[in-house]
Amino acid sequence: MNRQLMCVTCGSTYPLEDRRLRCDCGGLLDVQLDIDGAPSPDALAATFESRLPSRQPQDLSGVWRYRELVLDLSASDIVTFPEGRTNLYALDPTSLDLSALWAKHEGENPTGSFKDRGMTVAVSWARHQGARALICASTGNTSASLAAYGARAGIPVFVLIPEGHIAHGKLSQALAYGAHTLQIDGSFDDAMHAVEQMATQHNLTVVNSLNPFRLEGQKTIILDSFYQLANMLPDWVVVPGGNLGNTSAFGKALIEMKALGLIDRVPRLAVIQAEGASPFARAAQDDFRHFEPMQPETIATAIRIGNPVSYDKAVRAIRFTNGVVTSVTDAEILQAKHDLDRQAVGCEPASAATLAGLRRLMREHVVLPGDSVLLIITGNLLKDPDTTIALATGQTAGLSIPGAASLDACANKPRHVASDPETISHIIEEELQ
Ligand code: F0G
Repeated sequence: MNRQLMCVTCGSTYPLEDRRLRCDCGGLLDVQLDIDGAPSPDALAATFESRLPSRQPQDLSGVWRYRELVLDLSASDIVTFPEGRTNLYALDPTSLDLSALWAKHEGENPTGSFKDRGMTVAVSWARHQGARALICASTGNTSASLAAYGARAGIPVFVLIPEGHIAHGKLSQALAYGAHTLQIDGSFDDAMHAVEQMATQHNLTVVNSLNPFRLEGQKTIILDSFYQLANMLPDWVVVPGGNLGNTSAFGKALIEMKALGLIDRVPRLAVIQAEGASPFARAAQDDFRHFEPMQPETIATAIRIGNPVSYDKAVRAIRFTNGVVTSVTDAEILQAKHDLDRQAVGCEPASAATLAGLRRLMREHVVLPGDSVLLIITGNLLKDPDTTIALATGQTAGLSIPGAASLDACANKPRHVASDPETISHIIEEELQ
C-alpha cells in the first residue's frame, strides 16, 4: 500500500523516505495511508488470521501481523522481540453497572509497556534508513523500550530523563540495556526540547511519538482489541494521557478503520490525565480554543508531562471520536491501582488512571450504566516497585499526596515472624480466620 508523510497542520506532503521530523511549517507529520488502494475488510481479516499459525518473527508479532495497516518493510529490516501479544482480560462490570468491562494489558509487552509496539516500527524504520544513533526524551518507559530495541538493532541509544522522577524499574532497564543515559536537571518537557535540538545538531533519529512511525505501531492496540473482541469495539476506550502519543495513535487507527470499512460505529475515547499534569484536560474544558503548558507534578511519573508534543493530533482524535478528557487526583489513581492489582491486572500508577477516570466519568454521568468499556493498561506493575511497596505498607503519607489517609485500607503489610514451624502454623490459621 502506498504511503507518504503528511502535515496535520497545513497538509503538505513529503515522500515517506524523507528524513524529517516535522513539516517545514513546524507541524506534526502523519504517515498517510492510501486507503483507496487497501484490501477489503474481509481480505484484511483473512490475511491477519492466516499469520496466526506461522512461526516467522514478523507474524508472531502483534504489531507486524497487521503490517498492511502499519508499514511495508522487508523482514530483514524488522527489529522485533516479538511484541504486542498482549491479553485482554474481562473484569467484573457489575460493580460499576456496566454491560462489559475489559482491560487490555500492554504491560505484558517485552519491556513491560505499550511503547514496544511503537518502538519496533520506529527502530525498524531507522535501521532501514541507516540511522547513526537513536535518541528520546522519556519519563521512563520509552527509554526502557528504546534501550532494548536499540541493543537488538545494534544502534547506539541516547536517552534524556528527568533526574529523580523516573521509576526504578525503568531506569534499571535503560542502564542494563546499555543506553547512554543522561539525567537532566529539569522536567520531561525540558528533555523533549533538548532532544529535538540535539537530533538536528548531531544527525540523530528521534523516536519519541513525534516520530510518526511510532504511532503506526501503537495503532495496533486498537486493531488487536478489535480482533480479540471478535470484530467489535466497545462504547468507550479509556487511556491515560501524557505526551498524547497513544491518544493520537488511537484516533488515527479509528479514522482509518472507519474509512476501510472495518467499523461502522466509532467508540468514544476517554483520555485521563493526572490532576497535577493535566494541560490537555484543561484545554478540553474550553473546547481546545486555548492551550497553556503547566509545571507537572504527580505520583504517576510516567505521565508527569506539562507540554505534550502530540497535542494537535490528540485534539483531532478527541474530535473524531466525540471523545472526552478528564483528570483524577493522585489518591484516586492509587486507589484504582490497588483495585486493579487485587484482580491481578497489576499495573504502574499511570495505567490505573484509566479506572480512576472511568469512575469519575460515571459519577458525572458521562459514561452511563449499561455502557461497555475497554481500559488500556499501559505499564507493568514491576515498573514502579517503590510506589507499590509504599501503598502496601501504608506509607503513602510519606509520598505527600493530598487525601493519602484514605489509602490506609489498601495496605497489605508483610508480617515479621520467627522461623519455627509452630509460630508460622499458628499465623496461617489466624490469617485464614
Ligand atoms: N502510561 C504509561 C505507563 C506511560 O509510560 C506513558 C508515557 C503514558 C501512559 C502516556 O502515554 O505519552 O502516549 O500519552 N510515557 C512516555 C515515556 C512519555 O517517556 O515513557 P502518552
